[in-house]
Amino acid sequence: MKKIVIANHKSNLLKSDIINYINEINNNNFTNLDLVFCPSNIYLNSFINGGLKTGSQDVSIFNRGSYTGEVNAEQLCSLGVEYSIVGHSERRKYFNDDSHLAGKLANLIRLDIKPILCIGESLEDRKSGSVEKVLEKQLDDAFIKINNIDINKIIVAYEPIWSIGTNKIPTSKEIEEVVNHIEKYVYFKYDASVVVIYGGSVNLDNITEINSTPNLKGYLVGTSSIDVNYYIELLKKIDLESENYF
Ligand code: PGA
Repeated sequence: MKKIVIANHKSNLLKSDIINYINEINNNNFTNLDLVFCPSNIYLNSFINGGLKTGSQDVSIFNRGSYTGEVNAEQLCSLGVEYSIVGHSERRKYFNDDSHLAGKLANLIRLDIKPILCIGESLEDRKSGSVEKVLEKQLDDAFIKINNIDINKIIVAYEPIWSIGTNKIPTSKEIEEVVNHIEKYVYFKYDASVVVIYGGSVNLDNITEINSTPNLKGYLVGTSSIDVNYYIELLKKIDLESENYF
C-alpha cells in the first residue's frame, strides 16, 4: 500500500502558476506515493487534464439547484474529481461547517467521492487532556447521516488546530496515540476501518520525525504544497523514507 499525500492549496495560486505546477509534478515519479491535489475549484479541470488525481476543498450541502456560488457533489463527480476535503478547521471556523459537514459527507458518499474528513483539537483541548473526547465527538457528529459500511470509504485527516500553519507539530508518539485511538474508536463503535493521515505544518524539516510514526497512512499538506519545487523536495523525501513501509 502506498502512502497517500494530499496537497491542500487553500486559496492560493494564480492561473499563471498552474501549468508549470502540473508539469513539474509530472516530471517526477514517486513510486511509494499516491498523490492527490486539492486546488481551488477553478483549477480542478486543469489538474485532471494533466492526469493528476484531484480533490475539492469543500462541497455544497445542497444538491443541484438555485444556490448561487455553490459547487455540488454531482458537479464534482461529473468533472472527475475523486476526493473532497470536508470539515477543515478553517471552514469550521469561518463558514460554520460544524453544522453542515454530516450532510456534506452524505452527499459525497452518494456520488462515490472519497471524503477526507478533517478533525483536530485546539491547544486548550490538548492542555486539558480532552483530545480523545473532542475527536470522538467530531467523528460522531460527522457520521450521523451515513451508514457503517460507508464509513469505510472515509479518510480521516488528523489535523490539530494549533499545528495548522504554525510550524508546531505534535511528537511522533502523540500522533501515533491519536491515530491508534481513532482507528480503534471507529472500529469498535462503527465496525468500520478508516485510513488515518496527518496534517499540520508538515515540512522538509519535520517530515522525517513525523514519517517515523507507525501506522500513519499519509499526509495532508497545506503551506508546503504551494511552491511546487519545495513540494517536490518534500515528496521525494517522503517517497524515499516510505520505501518498504508496508
Ligand atoms: P499547513 O496546513 O500544512 O499549512 O499547516 C495543513 C492544512 O490546513 O490542511
